[in-house]
Amino acid sequence: MSTEQRPPSANQLLFYATKQKNVKEVATTGSGNPIPGKDASLTVGKDGPILLQDIVNIDEVAHFNRERIPERVVHAKGAGAFGYFEVTNDITEFSAAKVFDTIGKRTPIAVRFSQVTNEMGSADTVRDPRGFAVKFYTEDGIWDIVGNNTPIFFIRDTILFPSFIHILKRNPVTNLRDWDMYWDFFSLRPETMHQMLVLYSDRGIPDGYRYMHGYGSNTFSFVNAKGDFNYCKFHYKTDQGIRNIFSDQARIIAGADPDYSLRDLYNAIAEGRSPSWTFYVQILNPKQVDKLSFNPFDVTKTWPHADFPLIPVGRLVLNKNPSNYFAEVEQLGFSPANLIPGIDVSPDRMLQGRLFAYNDTQRYRIGVNHEQLPVNSPSKAKNFNRAGKFTLESQGGAPNYHPNSFHGPEPSIIAKELSPSFSLVGNTVRIDTSLLEDNFTQGRILYQRVLPPQERQRLIDNIAFDLKNATQFIQERLISNLLQVDEGLGNGVRDGIRRHVHAAI
Ligand code: HEM
Repeated sequence: MSTEQRPPSANQLLFYATKQKNVKEVATTGSGNPIPGKDASLTVGKDGPILLQDIVNIDEVAHFNRERIPERVVHAKGAGAFGYFEVTNDITEFSAAKVFDTIGKRTPIAVRFSQVTNEMGSADTVRDPRGFAVKFYTEDGIWDIVGNNTPIFFIRDTILFPSFIHILKRNPVTNLRDWDMYWDFFSLRPETMHQMLVLYSDRGIPDGYRYMHGYGSNTFSFVNAKGDFNYCKFHYKTDQGIRNIFSDQARIIAGADPDYSLRDLYNAIAEGRSPSWTFYVQILNPKQVDKLSFNPFDVTKTWPHADFPLIPVGRLVLNKNPSNYFAEVEQLGFSPANLIPGIDVSPDRMLQGRLFAYNDTQRYRIGVNHEQLPVNSPSKAKNFNRAGKFTLESQGGAPNYHPNSFHGPEPSIIAKELSPSFSLVGNTVRIDTSLLEDNFTQGRILYQRVLPPQERQRLIDNIAFDLKNATQFIQERLISNLLQVDEGLGNGVRDGIRRHVHAAI
């Protein structure tokens, strides 16, 4: 294949060579010392042992031994890109966040798309939700929306998250994916039903990252300049249109091109076909909360568009690939706790748990000073944190304690005025909501009114294909939950299991 026929991702080294054609660079150690040789170790005679004074050799091997940091405990496989967020509509009546203050304003962004379950080497066309995390580099520091390609999630209480992720990963004894673990949890926790139906619908395998929507998923709050607050949800709709891959095709691609989605995103951006998404918000006035038929802080539920219409805000555009994947994507650290004045938290329990989890994992995965890496914080932080591994920042000699008499940084009056005030009263309790909440109505609406008949049949088939691998009492329990959504769905899955088992014999 000629250079012109190959996609940009295949020509990366050729592009580099063309750019460097007239440049001659000297190879050095990590400390920048020119090296005398790179083709052979320094030995005693032709057949003798290698000397410890072979600094070049030791420098490289020692660095190589430390090339990995822990992969993300979830969302390990992913792709990243850079671009901007542009405001197209005025929403200052809802939020005083500077990122929204002027129509036409552009804020640089980083985006990381990912799968949830599998390891870094996994194939891109597995059935799994996709992560869609956006980092906004704003005047008020970093704002992260760390969402998925679905508006909802499987569980509504943080305490179940580690167990939920364990069932998606490997059995600790066999080191294999285990369908009993998987379907046991799904069938025991009926709140997983809504997201599970989305997962097994066509949207469970997007045709690459450009052809899917993104959602903040959790409920946040907006505060305007007068201090009024509303709850909100974030949506970004793909301008490329939705495209999915059916299961049979996905299995073939998984073998032939496991990096299908990475390659597609990289080449689209390199060829100037910048993907974009239209950014919307839904708004909920706090006075409406008690009148709703569902809990708006329950991340297993959507806010119906008929009651909470999508309000356009702007667009996300991706027009730059990373210049180094490890530096700019592997070390990209997101956190839902990175919020800016005008955008705040809500009582959404899954959000509350996430506010702790992400910065905690970044300290472990990237290090205590992960926020000082250029990709995580181009605008300088002013705080009282000092020292720790890989400190890059001196903060100009400012005092490292508060209060002080030496012009150290002070808390922002504006940030204080824009902090929403919630009234919280109650006794400490542990309430398992699995059977208290309505776990089936929204899933029923999805199945009966949103999905066309052919997609309903594929959904049945997709569930049956995986559920056939579980032991029988677990299959029955899951089917009895499906029957509560729709009789045709439950019975269809039961028949589908028989069909698949029969076909396999
Ligand atoms: C309490 C529940 C949750 C916990 C404890 C949790 C924890 C984590 C952790 C530890 C990571 C790895 C971060 C890293 O090493 O960089 C992660 C990544 C991620 N999580 Fe969650 N998560 C939770 C719920 C959710 C929910 C509800 C969503 C979306 C609806 C979500 C979306 C993501 C995304 C998109 C990433 C990948 C970020 C990236 O691209 O680097 N998580 N989560």
